[in-house]
Amino acid sequence: MHIHRYERWWMTFGIAMLVVFLLMIGFAAFADNINPPSGLQQVDPQKLSQTPPFDKPGLRKLPNGTYEAYYVAEVFNFIPATLSVPVGSKVTFYVTSADVVHGFFIPRTDINMMAIPGWVNTQSHTFTRSGDYLLICHEYCGIGHQNMFARIAVH
Ligand code: CUA
Repeated sequence: MHIHRYERWWMTFGIAMLVVFLLMIGFAAFADNINPPSGLQQVDPQKLSQTPPFDKPGLRKLPNGTYEAYYVAEVFNFIPATLSVPVGSKVTFYVTSADVVHGFFIPRTDINMMAIPGWVNTQSHTFTRSGDYLLICHEYCGIGHQNMFARIAVH
């Protein structure tokens, strides 16, 4: 079977790109440690009001000086609606939803998650700059979506 020279180049290029992309994925996974979320926590969205710590959403200070913030997202609020932490605080956010999928986004930080009924998502951020931060729902969740936000005061 005769394969044209250009065809052979093109096949070689295609296979080479496949190898390059596989190596990039491997590099990201093993050298940069970028992996899909694992060790996910599950929770019954019907029983949030009886399930610690989501029965009392809010801020907890840990003995090492960092904070944990537990949030419940529901149409069309975040609980707690306000939070206040000192400048320099490292806060680990734990978020779940009581009803539908919501967004959990704090502009000017690296917090960008989804609030999913049945699952607890987690992300940490160290607030090095003071100010009032807005926590917004950036996942369309219904008629009041655009009014779904909360505030975080860092002072
Ligand atoms: Cu909640 Cu959009």
